[in-house]
Amino acid sequence: MKLARKDILGIKELSVDEINLILDTAESFIEISTRDIKKVPTLRGKTVINLFYEPSTRTRTSFEIAAKRLSADAVNISASTSSVVKGETLIDTAMNLEAMNPDIIIMRHSAAGAPHILSGLIKQSIINAGDGAHEHPTQALLDMMTIREKKGKIEGLKVAIVGDIAHSRVARSNIYGLTKMGANVTVAGPATMMPRDIDKLGVRVCYHLEEAIKDVDIIMVLRIQLERQENNIFPSLREYSNYYCLNARNITLAKDDVLVMHPGPINRGVEIAPDIADGSHSIILDQVTNGVAIRMALLYLLTG
Ligand code: CP
Repeated sequence: MKLARKDILGIKELSVDEINLILDTAESFIEISTRDIKKVPTLRGKTVINLFYEPSTRTRTSFEIAAKRLSADAVNISASTSSVVKGETLIDTAMNLEAMNPDIIIMRHSAAGAPHILSGLIKQSIINAGDGAHEHPTQALLDMMTIREKKGKIEGLKVAIVGDIAHSRVARSNIYGLTKMGANVTVAGPATMMPRDIDKLGVRVCYHLEEAIKDVDIIMVLRIQLERQENNIFPSLREYSNYYCLNARNITLAKDDVLVMHPGPINRGVEIAPDIADGSHSIILDQVTNGVAIRMALLYLLTG
């Protein structure tokens, strides 16, 4: 089985059938990670390069683990320890990597559209591991997989995405994915963190946490993306947490069986109270587990 596309650049361009194929394939790979010997020969002889221009714990590690569990050779490159620090451009770096004939390049970059530029330049498959505030497609896929696993469906669910919507590539990819899959999505956050015209993507917009999470099935909490904010767009972290921190009091407004998600890294006590992050509603670590399966599925489906 193979995806009929060279790259995974965003959820926006994926069809519902393609998303379902990826989620189904990922489900079939979960079992491999529970074995004593967590390795199958599926991608033996293939080479995967992780090219990360921004820090990462979950995405980079899970791509490396995914490649190794499928017996591919995985190579990690951090911009901070590469010839990027000597002034080499993104395009020169990519052309030099292409010359070594890998099969897939996984790329994270602070500039929106950087993986799209490489996609047009080099013959290898590119997977976008997060480009600026634009998209983080593999995060949205693992999120949708986790929702489907826990709730049995995505269609018809009420999902609230809360926090720094304007600077969040996770929010954008999840909005594209969840609305395509038939969920009812509400976004909530301070007006200074809400992109203009976000409602045109088919979501309800709220500025109050309590209003957004009333009777929802899923609350997806986002970190404030300080690294992407040019000005102070709220007075203080304490002020933000007073209004937008998900805690034991306000979570009671959601459905009794509400699930709490967070892409990580968490800022405990800012956007989510520690007892909620670690509590019975939280499926945050299930998201991380499923991240390996989603990335195995994408490596498999792109290389065939
Ligand atoms: N969710 C996510 O992208 O985490 P990392 O930045 O640690 O990869």
